[in-house]
Amino acid sequence: MFDVKTPPSAASTVAEPQVRGVAPLHEEPARLERTQSVPYTPIRSLGASHREQILEHLLSLPAHDRYLRFGYPASDEQVKRYVYGLDFKRDEIFGIHNSELELIAVAHLAFDAASEGKPRAAEFGVSVCGGYRGRRLGARLYDRAVMHARNAGVQTMYIHALSENVPMLRIARNAGATVHRDGCESEAYLTLPPANLNSRLSEVWEDQIGEFDYRLKAQTYQFQAFLSSLQKQWGTTSSAPETSTNTEEVR
Ligand SMILES: CC(C)(COP(=O)(O)OP(=O)(O)OC[C@H]1O[C@@H](n2cnc3c(N)ncnc32)[C@H](O)[C@@H]1OP(=O)(O)O)[C@@H](O)C(=O)NCCC(=O)NCCS
Repeated sequence: MFDVKTPPSAASTVAEPQVRGVAPLHEEPARLERTQSVPYTPIRSLGASHREQILEHLLSLPAHDRYLRFGYPASDEQVKRYVYGLDFKRDEIFGIHNSELELIAVAHLAFDAASEGKPRAAEFGVSVCGGYRGRRLGARLYDRAVMHARNAGVQTMYIHALSENVPMLRIARNAGATVHRDGCESEAYLTLPPANLNSRLSEVWEDQIGEFDYRLKAQTYQFQAFLSSLQKQWGTTSSAPETSTNTEEVR
């Protein structure tokens, strides 16, 4: 458990992502069935240029969520230290942006020290902004991390979570992880199958969709800002550009 804002709107009003019908994330049949009924959410791999946004996301978590995320009541200083210590070369950090380009969910896949050139295990930690919960973003990030870990040769993906953390443990259990409870703390271990052509191609696809989705959101956002500035200049108040339409995107 390590790391992770307050969302613009309530869960029920926030729509889901747009890109649908893409390759399934997981090959396990039960999981496949579940993900097919769930809208697809593009996920982006984050780099060092996102450090400030990650920090903002984590600092915006209410105290209890921070406690769940890190396993202790992390102070602002501790969160900063964690974020500035993130190793984007060694680890993988995934994020989900809404239509206003706010980072609404972050996952950290931290690789253990490599043995024989490959990391044997990796730890997963995640956080989703309060108003975006219950839309399977956490589960999507978990699946994305599983895919990446598997392709990196990892055999076991694990999570440290507080036993009270029902959603987190549920995500892990749903994916087939074994959960060991030790009092108020739990560990969930998922054994990963070896990478294959499908898992590698799926990851390339996921990366491209994540980038494409982000660029589309950025262009739409800039265009809407441009229209708003024009309207302000002209002093019009009617027919303001809407950032929310009836599309089903994470907003
Ligand atoms: C844990 C967390 C990431 C889950 O994110 P999320 O996007 O809301 O999770 P999902 O929508 O993918 O839901 C996951 C599962 O938990 C269930 N669930 C969600 N909220 C729940 C709740 N409050 N109580 C019980 N179950 C819940 C969902 O129904 C789903 O199970 P299902 O697929 O069997 O129906 C989010 O709650 C969070 O950020 N918590 C604070 C930080 C944290 O605890 N991080 C994990 C420590 S590593």
